Amino acid sequence: MNILVTGGAGYIGSHTCVALLEAGHQVTVIDNLCNSNADVLTRVQALTGRSLRFVHGDIRSRDDLARAFAGGIGAVIHFAALKAVGESCAQPLAYFDNNISGTIMLMQAMQAAGVERLVFSSSATVYGQPDHVPVKEDAPLRVTNPYGRTKLVMEDLIRDWCASRPELSAVLLRYFNPVGAHPSGQIGEDPRGIPNNLMPYIAQVASGQRERLHVFGNDYPTPDGTGIRDYLHVMDLADAHVKALDYATTHTGCEAFNLGTGQGHSVLELVRAFEHASGRKIPCTITQRRPGDVAEIWANPARAMQVLGWAAQYDLAAMCADTWRWQRDNPTGYA
Ligand code: NAD
Ligand code: UFG
Repeated sequence: MNILVTGGAGYIGSHTCVALLEAGHQVTVIDNLCNSNADVLTRVQALTGRSLRFVHGDIRSRDDLARAFAGGIGAVIHFAALKAVGESCAQPLAYFDNNISGTIMLMQAMQAAGVERLVFSSSATVYGQPDHVPVKEDAPLRVTNPYGRTKLVMEDLIRDWCASRPELSAVLLRYFNPVGAHPSGQIGEDPRGIPNNLMPYIAQVASGQRERLHVFGNDYPTPDGTGIRDYLHVMDLADAHVKALDYATTHTGCEAFNLGTGQGHSVLELVRAFEHASGRKIPCTITQRRPGDVAEIWANPARAMQVLGWAAQYDLAAMCADTWRWQRDNPTGYA
């Protein structure tokens, strides 16, 4: 099948392109490169020995979408979005426009082209501060920032669209904390500026680009006082998209799935695991809690196992080893 991957030059999209090509699919990527570099697609093709079609364009442009759909598309995997929580608080309208308007334009283009299957990148952020962990898909949805609001709105819009016609199929994938890189060290996460997220920040401390990690609070009600998250290898995430696509081709309706390992790790556990993987010391300073952070959240991923036949395979040691290989071999990312 020819799969249109929006945001396919990004971190998770590029790893998913590798998995799709390896599974025998054809791939068309549409990306405006607002948070990525086209070199990644050269590396994806070199890694897989297969070519893909790249449309340099914006999902908010009807013309760009028409070019992307022109090749004959069987299904869409929709990654393209802005994703920085802090930036979304400062510029909510940019997030509403890019993420929500972009998704509406994409669904219109799918309808015009007669494409009936969609896999969507959602986020554990839709659960906000959960009442219980591990979190199941039927937990209350409540968001705490404009980025999270866009994910919740997009989920609702996709669900409503799906309900409008019986032949439509959508899979909403709620990622917990994606980390890691392709084991080859050829592709990985390449954040612009100072990383917001823990793993890329630690990796830059290990490689000497940053002096020390600031641990955002050690007074949470957790065993070591630092925040607990469900870190998930991006290779497992990529594999989940291939399985979700298979599901969308054989089922109709709209379904949501948690994607996580089902295990929580604290900030300090991640630091220790990264020190072990890299052989480098990660100097840490404890600072104030980061506003908006929850103490602990991890997934109950049972539904993804039961329905999609997916379960995470990579452990924390592999997540750290693969992040380190990518960081060590590409200290300036794709630049
Ligand atoms: P990323 O920024 O690396 O990738 C997103 C890609 O989309 C980028 O290449 C960017 O250039 C492109 N893009 C953005 N707006 C576009 C537009 N209007 N038109 C065309 N291309 C556009 O991010 P990622 O980490 O790979 O995340 C992918 C998806 O997963 C996003 O929807 C994100 O919200 C979601 N997600 C990410 C995480 C995470 O921690 N990385 C967690 C949960 C959910
Ligand atoms: N942390 C630090 N220091 C840092 C960065 C993070 O101590 O420099 C801590 C945070 O306080 C938190 C943990 O590391 O306890 C993880 O933080 P991340 O920023 O890596 O991840 P979050 O869980 O806060 O958020 C991420 C994405 C969100 C997404 C969410 C769930 O950034 O967009 O996962 O998928 F919604």
